Amino acid sequence: MGGCNLDTRMSTFVTKGPVAETQYDLFMLTVWVTLGIFIAVGGAFAFAIIKFRERPNDDRPMPSQGHGNPLVEIGLIGVSILLLVIIAVPTLKGIWYTHDTPEDPESFMGSWYKGEELAEEESEKPLIVKVIGYQWWWAFEYPQLGITTANEMVIPAGKVVHLELRSFDVIHSFWLPRIAGKVDLIPGRTNSMWIQAGDNFRRWKGKQGVANPNEDSPALRADYANYLEEEIHNYYYGQCAEYCGDSHARMLFRATVVDNEEFAEWVIDERTGHGTPDGKSWDDWYGAYDNNPESLTGDLNDGLKVFMGRGKCATCHVVKGNPRALGVAGPNLTNVGSRMSIAAGWLNHRSEEDGSIDLEKQYDNFYKWINETDVVKPGNRMWKAGGGGIGELIDENGELALLTDDEIHKLSLYLQSLK
Ligand code: CUA
Repeated sequence: MGGCNLDTRMSTFVTKGPVAETQYDLFMLTVWVTLGIFIAVGGAFAFAIIKFRERPNDDRPMPSQGHGNPLVEIGLIGVSILLLVIIAVPTLKGIWYTHDTPEDPESFMGSWYKGEELAEEESEKPLIVKVIGYQWWWAFEYPQLGITTANEMVIPAGKVVHLELRSFDVIHSFWLPRIAGKVDLIPGRTNSMWIQAGDNFRRWKGKQGVANPNEDSPALRADYANYLEEEIHNYYYGQCAEYCGDSHARMLFRATVVDNEEFAEWVIDERTGHGTPDGKSWDDWYGAYDNNPESLTGDLNDGLKVFMGRGKCATCHVVKGNPRALGVAGPNLTNVGSRMSIAAGWLNHRSEEDGSIDLEKQYDNFYKWINETDVVKPGNRMWKAGGGGIGELIDENGELALLTDDEIHKLSLYLQSLK
């Protein structure tokens, strides 16, 4: 029902791009057909109960009965079949349309991706994103670019993106209402679909009433670029749409739609990852960490020490650049400080005015998440990792001891610095 609200971030009525439009058209066709049935059946019913209702001192005879009239019965069966066909044919076409990634030369990586290290054989393929559902977060892998992120996918405006959908544990469902919905992630198999935020140049020209689809000019290109910037360049809300356990309702995700240059810059950022807080090489930092941790001072170094040590964060989280933060059980934290939300979209720090990060809110969100992760997201694995979760941390005396306020404070500052 949330998707039926007209002007929300997750409205299915405000469509961006061909997949969402196709699904919207199908929905409207079904609405009109079923509305017709409702009026015909409901109208006949209302007519009968009003006209033939029993009145005081009613001595009219029983009206003639239509039961067993072959013409009416066969006619109704025929009409029902016809209506089902009218809905079924476009439905099947819509399913195939969503499943089969189109061969759109304008979307081939080679024609728009200006970054480095794209293998030759990838240049005639669209961008591929592997979406993996976990209880209760999302991994987004970009195999052609060698990067992985979590909970906030980044995609180029107006380009076909091929999705491969898998699950790590139970069934989840990928739903990004304004751009496309909704395909399940099923353990043991790979589903696929494609998404596209906004029209490509050719489709956009068609809608603008440009008669010749091959027409091209700097003015048209500029208008099209403007359309992508104004209409599409945005931040979209998604949600797991299949009940998957305790925190299903808190398994959200985001899609940031960017232009080609921003996309290439984002890829470089993700690949480069992070250095140490004070600019030492990682070898030097770990030399100090292993032999004389007291020599590493300052809040960020302290935060990183908690991350590597007592907090055990690195056993489950990757931070690109850091040679010992290699765990893959939890979300990849590379550039987590640049994301607009944490905890799979549940804790937001994006300012609604200008789309920037509200730093105070971001700090509060990190603090809250680490301090009471079981409250923010009941059942989550960070809390109960069977020996590794922060509910079972031990202090230097071997006693169970949660992170102190000071440790959480410094860890939050460190995570905030990962951008
Ligand atoms: Cu994943 Cu609901």
